[in-house]
Amino acid sequence: MNRLHQLTYYFNHGAVAIAVSLFTLATVNAQTIIPIETAHNALVLQADAKKDLKTIFFGKKLANKEEYSQVSGQYKQTDDYSEQLNAAYTPSGSRNLVEPAISVTHADGNNSLDLSYVDHTVTAIDNNVNLLKIRLKDPAYNFEVTLFYKSFYKQDVIEQWTEIKHSEKGIVTLNKYASANLHLKSPHFWLNQYHGDWAKEMQPEQSELTHGIKTLDSKLGTRANLFQPSVFMISLDKPGEENEGNVLYGALEWSGNFKIDLELDYQNNLRIIAGMNNYASPYSLKPGELFTTPAFLYTFSNQGKGDASRKLQNWARNYKILDGKGSRLTLLNNWEATYFDFNEQKLADLLKDTKKLGVDLFLLDDGWFGNKYPRNDDHAALGDWQENKKKLPNGISSLVKEADNVGTKFGIWIEPEMVSPKSELYEKHPDWVVKQPNRPEHYFRNQLELDLSNPKVQDFVFSVVDGLFTKNPKLAYIKWDCNAVIYNAYSAHLKNQSHFYIDYVRGLYTVLQRIRAKYPTIPMMLCSGGGGRVDYGALQYFTEFWPSDNTDPLERIFMQWEYSYFYPAVSSSNHVTDWGKQSIKFRTDVAMMGKLGFDIVVSKLPEKELQFCQEAIKNYNDVKAIIWQGDQYRLADPRSGSVASMLYVNEEKTEGVIFNYQVNYRYGESSKYPVKLNGLDANKKYQIKEINLFPGTKSPIDGSKTYTGDFLMNIGFNPILNTDRTSVVLKFEEVK
Ligand code: DGJ
Repeated sequence: MNRLHQLTYYFNHGAVAIAVSLFTLATVNAQTIIPIETAHNALVLQADAKKDLKTIFFGKKLANKEEYSQVSGQYKQTDDYSEQLNAAYTPSGSRNLVEPAISVTHADGNNSLDLSYVDHTVTAIDNNVNLLKIRLKDPAYNFEVTLFYKSFYKQDVIEQWTEIKHSEKGIVTLNKYASANLHLKSPHFWLNQYHGDWAKEMQPEQSELTHGIKTLDSKLGTRANLFQPSVFMISLDKPGEENEGNVLYGALEWSGNFKIDLELDYQNNLRIIAGMNNYASPYSLKPGELFTTPAFLYTFSNQGKGDASRKLQNWARNYKILDGKGSRLTLLNNWEATYFDFNEQKLADLLKDTKKLGVDLFLLDDGWFGNKYPRNDDHAALGDWQENKKKLPNGISSLVKEADNVGTKFGIWIEPEMVSPKSELYEKHPDWVVKQPNRPEHYFRNQLELDLSNPKVQDFVFSVVDGLFTKNPKLAYIKWDCNAVIYNAYSAHLKNQSHFYIDYVRGLYTVLQRIRAKYPTIPMMLCSGGGGRVDYGALQYFTEFWPSDNTDPLERIFMQWEYSYFYPAVSSSNHVTDWGKQSIKFRTDVAMMGKLGFDIVVSKLPEKELQFCQEAIKNYNDVKAIIWQGDQYRLADPRSGSVASMLYVNEEKTEGVIFNYQVNYRYGESSKYPVKLNGLDANKKYQIKEINLFPGTKSPIDGSKTYTGDFLMNIGFNPILNTDRTSVVLKFEEVK
């Protein structure tokens, strides 16, 4: 390797925090190779002699970096006529024949774009994170694209986004503006995707990709993931298993319309083009204006889905979710206990129940506001965020005070992006409402959105949150709901309606940034009538999300299982409710697998059930740090057998907890085979005890026996599940 070549490589674990401009080198070298290396993987780009930037490798990294340039030569596929099939960011209107990453109409009306490599720089942000910037320019127009690759070495994660700008004489229209454009080689590709609806979130589907384009997208505006989230997996060659296979995970950090095109091209390679959805959204860009796309994030493992998910969870806790490494508050929510029907007395009793139960906080849900149009059902008052004088004559502040007296914390539900047609806000500011001026209104849950592209509306939404905290400095928690999708997308504020879907989400993020600047640590739950909104764009402002209104624990075992591939347990709010037919023990055990909460009438619990819950909360406090911050291993998949089993272990592999459920109640079903543990130290010795026993029951498990990690991982351990023991929680600890 010559000196110039050597210099064009950079290493992600470099400790020097300086930017290195490689502009001169690039112009000297006929071929510039840019490998983005993480602990186990490499994405290798190459600017060729014609200055086309291409992906030449993606996968497990090679020991010798010099060999990346030889990879392509080993593939004898059909011709690439355009010489652009593996473009790192595919332009359109020039040579391209496939799905573009970007398409524009220049100021002079011309629709063609070509992008040539100009230079690249790399900045070591710290000893784990590097930022690579690659500049591309159209040789015929003053139009520039910068590709950003933020790589997280230890976690094998890359966040990729794009900046677009121009200095043409007039407006350029961006017709498409992807965040990333990947190119993968493999004989077969398998897609794991998700679909759903209210109470049916995260239903998985797996299929082999065939030629053409498979699109995952949303056009819902808000609550954008309701029918289809932007998270997915691609397995190379054969479907990935939990502990083996080559699997890429992808997710878009954006809380609005998205579009992910998976194009299996005529050469049999997979092109992944991911970004905001350009549906109804050509974006006009003024000269000098910067258009920044959201980040598309991806990770890859050659050790299967489990390893990939632990990398992603680790990344999310360390770098993305607000306070991802911090603690969380257990809570009692009143939604399913009271719905809209409560008053001060009822709430005072619930505050005492919160204390009695032993959780940290009481969360007052929907129904506390609106006077001219009281919020007694879901037909009125969204937007009128003043306490309802009949229900709460002494206001929220007296409840916060009362909570303090009782010795618990107080949190509150809001849905500040929304407006009810029957509200004072709608009457006062009809121009703030998203609706077509010349068409009838159409409602989702009897409500409409506020136009967050309008800075005045942004101020209003900020003031809703700010007002609550200013009046009640001891307020400790916010549940931020979003129950509607956008119909009749139209902004009375915007001149260009094509900007609406994008500017709405940008407006939302502006508000959230303002909130976080003033209230950096207040825990906030991201709720969207269930899990219709969770994504890593939003989770940088929220400490947790609400996976689904469906809290039937049997359903939740399946749903939480799928969410866990992409989101760590610390972010998953799981509540014990009256949904489902399972025992209080089963319901509590399932809710303990993330961030525990309750939404039941505590005062009506039979004595033993209350006693069980109180004990379970103590047990939870004991193991919650491992659940939240430990490594998660899926041991037995509820979709492929009668048993579901999930293990959480601390970093030192000295302590952990295993949740086991019987999910098939047919005659004679039980845990016939031992469940193989994972993530332990083969050389350590462990003892396993059952916890969360219902008062009066005894465990058949002998907690005094000792097993090696080797035994537990190769032979396994039987949780002894049967139709009388459908839920078993085990705690294991190293013994010396
Ligand atoms: C939908 C949420 O998912 C529920 O938990 C509850 O907060 C209701 N909205 C209140 O309207």
